[in-house]
Order: sequence, then C-alpha cells, then structure tokens
Amino acid sequence: MRTLLERVKEGGLPRHVAVIMDGNGRWAKAHGLSRTSGHQAGALAAERLIRFVGSKLELPYLTLFAFSSENWARPQSEVAFLMDLLTDFIRTRLAELVDAGVQLRVIGDRERIPSALRDQVADGIAATADGERLHLTIALSYGGRQELAAAARRIASDVVAGKIRPGDVDETAVADRLETAGMPDPDLVIRTSGEERLSNFLLWQSAYAELCFTDVLWPDFVPAEFLRCLAAYQRRRRRFGLVEGMET
Ligand code: FPP
Repeated sequence: MRTLLERVKEGGLPRHVAVIMDGNGRWAKAHGLSRTSGHQAGALAAERLIRFVGSKLELPYLTLFAFSSENWARPQSEVAFLMDLLTDFIRTRLAELVDAGVQLRVIGDRERIPSALRDQVADGIAATADGERLHLTIALSYGGRQELAAAARRIASDVVAGKIRPGDVDETAVADRLETAGMPDPDLVIRTSGEERLSNFLLWQSAYAELCFTDVLWPDFVPAEFLRCLAAYQRRRRRFGLVEGMET
C-alpha cells in the first residue's frame, strides 16, 4: 500500500501553502501548562513542519503566521516572550536552515519589533539569501489591511512623483507594492484549532486560495495532518471563476 506521503507527492503539490498557526494557548490549558509553554510547543511544531516540507516535499513556498498586528494587544509579558522565542528560533536554527536550502523572508511591520529580533531577522535573511529549495516566509507583526494601506501609500507617492499615472493602477501595480511581491499567491491556506477565518492574513494574496480548517491545535500539528490538508486540496477543483475544464 502506498503511503499518504507517496500519494500526495503524486497528486500534484501546490506551489505555496500558508499556515495560520492557532491554538497554542488552548493546547497549554488542556495540558495544565502556562501559555508560554504552549508557544514553546508551537515553535517545535513550526520547526517540525519546516523540516518536513524542506526534506520530503517539492513545495517551494511555505508561509507561517507567527505574530499578527493585533497580537501586540496581548499582555506585555506574553508579547515579550514571543519576541524572545522568535529571536532564539532564528538564531538557533539558522545553520540548519542554510544547510537545508531555505531562503528566509519576513513580512510585517519590522519597525515595531524589538531591535534584537530585528537584527536577528536581518542576519537570517542575509545568511539564507542563496537558499533555493524552500522559500520560508514568516509573517511577523503582520496584518493584511496594514499591508494594503502601505501599498496604497506607495502608489500615491509614485503617482505624485510622476512614476505611474492613476489610470495605470491595476492589480499588478498593487501586487508589486505588497511585501509578498515576487512570490506566488498561496494556493492553500491552512488554519488550525477549529477557527474558520482569515484574521487579516494575506487578504489580497488569498483571493483564490483553497482553505483547509482543522480542529488540531497548533502544537499537535504533525506532518501527517499537513499531508491530509494537501490531500484535501488535491481533491478540490480550482476554477478561478471559470467554468469546469477552462482553468488550465
Ligand atoms: C496562536 O496561538 C499562536 C500565536 C499567536 C503565536 C504563534 C507562534 C508560534 C507558533 C511560535 C513560533 C513560530 C515560529 C515560526 C518559530 P494562540 O496563542 O492564539 O492560541 P489560543 O487561541 O489557543 O489562545
């Protein structure tokens, strides 16, 4: 019998999967642990997924939602813990990321994050710049509406500077000014923990994404669950607004 991994690999993989990692707090509560322990377990789940995608699948783009623009409103101690966790995560895994051919990208408002994390992000991006196997994007202090507002500001500046005429502002002009410029749109967005919404994640880019919601809490998200989402994606017919048969 062929394994799920073999079947998924034969079924045609998406180019870009984006993941809303949700449920660390509920996982911690269910195990009688602190929320911070839940985030630590969540970081291990992220590491497990990156390692799996990087080593077992030809899936060139993986994007993880690590911290939203709205998450700044959490208790200051939890925010500080998450910033330290992300700093340590990049620092301690950097050599492995380079060896695995990962190219790191970070989207979001970098001005708001502590300088230690900002510096670590810059180091990580520089060190992994030649990676070609997996484009790993971490959304950090990220919000889709904020990203779109920033793109609108850039367009307005370019219009004022005479670089582009208002009538030339089309979808490409917007996409080129998003932080994801140059990346393919996500084909599949996965959200864990039973919540079924996008929560301001890649709003423009997810216009035609398939969505996979799973009840699994993020720290329990194992590669087999990821494969089940890919298998569900493969069973869907993506029509991009066309009629059956026209899409390819
Ligand atoms: C959602 O769980 C998770 C977060 C807000 C933080 C995500 C961070 C990680 C998974 C750790 C590090 C990530 C990387 C890429 C190394 P929640 O706290 O909202 O859970 P709850 O809804 O159950 O309270």
